[in-house]
Amino acid sequence: MKRIGVLISGRGSNLGALIADQANAPYRIVSVISNIEGAGGLARAAEAGIATKVIPHKGKTREAFDAELDAALRAADVEIVCLAGFMRILSDGFTRAWEGRLINIHPSLLPAYKGTHVHERVIEARESQSGASVHFVVPELDAGPVIAQARVPVHADDTPDALAARVLDVEHKLYPAALRLLADGKVKLEKGLAVFG
Ligand code: GAR
Repeated sequence: MKRIGVLISGRGSNLGALIADQANAPYRIVSVISNIEGAGGLARAAEAGIATKVIPHKGKTREAFDAELDAALRAADVEIVCLAGFMRILSDGFTRAWEGRLINIHPSLLPAYKGTHVHERVIEARESQSGASVHFVVPELDAGPVIAQARVPVHADDTPDALAARVLDVEHKLYPAALRLLADGKVKLEKGLAVFG
């Protein structure tokens, strides 16, 4: 049973999917940390009886903020960290310290559409498909090896919100499935690759 820390900045619907999955999964969420006070995901976690913590990032260097995060995760004996709508770039030191035990969900078919405003850019480019990716986090933004992906169609009349909702729906299936693989030791980060088996 792996001890999970989840980092959020917003409503936490992916956190909600992980909470719903954990009852019969090889992981338990033991800590939810947000850089934003009042983030919706904090209430979801509290309702589920999970310890929550707010670590504001304002007025701190990236390294100082990440050191606080790291200390809080270690204090909770966290073994795997999941970024779930956590909208802060992490320092190289933090990502290296948690290498292989730090994963993120991103709302595109990586390596396409790294960064922000993904759905707007996908629609602008008239893509016919998009999706979501769960990947190991490495220092370069959204560039770590992919563990799992899910695809959705992009419709000609899609708005960014409509596409975001369609992608979010598959995110909620993808993230628990990918975390189960990692928690079970069925996928590992080895020499920059996601290795299965
Ligand atoms: C999700 O769509 C997630 O993929 C995205 O933020 C949303 C968070 O929603 N993450 C990123 O864009 C990371 N670069 P949630 O708070 O409801 O889980």
